[in-house]
Amino acid sequence: MRDVAVIGVGLTKFGERWSSGLKELLAEAGIAALEDANISSNDIEMLYGGTMASGRFIGQEHTAALMADQLGFKNTPAVRIENACASGGSALRQAYISVASGIHDIVVVGGVEKMTDVTSAEASTALGGAGDQEWELFQGITFPGLYALIAKRHMYEYGTTEEQLASVAVKNHENACKNQLAQFKKRISIEEVMKSKMVSDPLKLLDCSPISDGAAVAVLAPLDKARKYNDTPIKILSSSQASDTLRLAERDSLTELKATKIASQLAYKHAKLEPKDIDVVEVHDCFTIAEILAMEDLGFYKKGKAAQAIFDGETALNSKLSVNTSGGLKGCGHPVGATGVKQAAEIVWQLRGDAKDRQVKGAEIGMTHNVGGSGATAVVHIFERAD
Ligand code: COA
Repeated sequence: MRDVAVIGVGLTKFGERWSSGLKELLAEAGIAALEDANISSNDIEMLYGGTMASGRFIGQEHTAALMADQLGFKNTPAVRIENACASGGSALRQAYISVASGIHDIVVVGGVEKMTDVTSAEASTALGGAGDQEWELFQGITFPGLYALIAKRHMYEYGTTEEQLASVAVKNHENACKNQLAQFKKRISIEEVMKSKMVSDPLKLLDCSPISDGAAVAVLAPLDKARKYNDTPIKILSSSQASDTLRLAERDSLTELKATKIASQLAYKHAKLEPKDIDVVEVHDCFTIAEILAMEDLGFYKKGKAAQAIFDGETALNSKLSVNTSGGLKGCGHPVGATGVKQAAEIVWQLRGDAKDRQVKGAEIGMTHNVGGSGATAVVHIFERAD
């Protein structure tokens, strides 16, 4: 296995991008990533593209070939990766494997979703495809509903409060205010979250990630060739993934995502690190309860202890552990196929020292955590500045 580095990243602004189509979003992020990597489209040997439901959102399938076409990669092999909201993270992992194995040198990983061209009801149905259609969605539950069940159980078992849930959204909107590419550059208070309209009890509008458009692209290379392109390559120390049942009803516990636990334990083992070594992490906060679960399942807090720690500000920018400095899915937005790659871009900027107003001081080790559905897929990457 060869060491692998990220040599370039590019991102669009996330949000309601009504004047840009899927192709424009891809071009915007792709050109930025190729320029960042200082590389020509002729050098790209392989592309992995993450998209969750482009067919349902805009009628466009075959999105990896479209990415390659749009970015001017002539006859470069391209494969689409669909793994629900973890499509981007899974595409990154495939790109990592392909460079680590020695099969390809320069590999592009893209993620994209154009979600705002349909009604909220249509978006909700498309996102529901990440759950078990027959046993869950057909019975009438939506994704906010599934995470609401998890939240209710967490509240019952650990006394987690709605104010503690709200504090996740408040922190992530605060971070998003420092991110030019974020969907919501808007501060919110716990009171505003509590008063926002109920979506699925106990989750309110401001406990939910939004419907978003956006794209993210990263370029990977073998570490020993990376400096030819970029002075500050970011090494991928480990890349792990695990699965679990699609159905919540089949899980041993509703208050943990086992796939996250397994993927992170493997990631720590391969990187020879522990949770205390991580300086900055982007976790999958599709709903506020999801960030609380992530902080526990990734090993940063014992079960039942993360909610109060977040409420107390331990995970704010430049506190004990900086979490979701981009604004997370809640504040930065969640164009589902793009999210996993966007998380990697944020960590790359943090480890290069390029995160501007939201820079974590002295960040050396970063982590990304990308979840598909209600936890049937979890992908964890650990990154290090390769000085
Ligand atoms: N956070 C903050 N503001 C939001 C928001 C969110 N999640 N969703 C919508 N808004 C804002 C809109 O910008 C709009 O503001 P405006 O009136 O100032 O323009 C207002 O709220 C109403 O927006 P609308 O699109 O009508 O909301 P909606 O009720 O149709 O949708 C949700 C709200 C929460 C149902 C929708 O965002 C959603 O389904 N989120 C979850 C997405 C999801 O499941 N992702 C996959 C996770 S695994």
